[in-house]
Amino acid sequence: MSASSFPVIAIDGPTASGKGTVAHRVAERLGFHYLDSGALYRLTALSALRSGTPLADEHALSKLASGLHCSFSGDKIMLANDNVTNAIRAEEVGNTASKIASLPTVRQALYGLQLSFRKPPGLVADGRDMGSVIFPQASLKVFLTASPEARAERRYKQLIDKGFSANMEDLLKDLWERDARDTNRAISPLKPAEGAHLLDTSAMTADQAVEQVLQWYAELKKH
Ligand code: CDP
Repeated sequence: MSASSFPVIAIDGPTASGKGTVAHRVAERLGFHYLDSGALYRLTALSALRSGTPLADEHALSKLASGLHCSFSGDKIMLANDNVTNAIRAEEVGNTASKIASLPTVRQALYGLQLSFRKPPGLVADGRDMGSVIFPQASLKVFLTASPEARAERRYKQLIDKGFSANMEDLLKDLWERDARDTNRAISPLKPAEGAHLLDTSAMTADQAVEQVLQWYAELKKH
């Protein structure tokens, strides 16, 4: 069986919409693999920050992206021999990731790596362009949103839990900026893929969102 015959559930949405948590739990429930595509942009950003690569040097950045030595096991993310699970969650890394994600050659450099996550019995992929560009044939596409306030609050909790300091006002400002960058970029802009189910989770728990995605998937398999 070729990799393209294994099912993919694509879960896209804006920053801090909770898609990571939801995608992770859906993958666990189905026994599927999980792709956190944002982590690949964050790993590239961290490599750039650590090596002092100028953000204007697209060629050098795309070389960093295509040469990423990273591995994922459970929640642990390694960059070469370094455990960077927490380091890539810093706001500075997220902001840099969002900037370099607008560079076409960086996106191209990460394309093959993302496809390689599609393995039996299936994949849940989370990001901005999973359903629109990377896995356009996904069995199920979900576009997960939440109000900016709900998202800022979630991001705040996430950062504090990881031991980073955070401030709601700065977070909201960052969130608007990141939304604007993700939505307005020329390549793979953030938007619901064709045929995507919209899920506004502002007033939902992560578990309720998980149940909704699983229900859509179960319905699809009936037909
Ligand atoms: O945590 P947050 O949702 O802000 O971001 P993330 O999913 O960890 O991704 C980090 C950055 O990478 C985002 O701000 C996006 O600009 C970018 N990204 C992207 O362009 N395409 C993807 N498939 C995933 C992330």
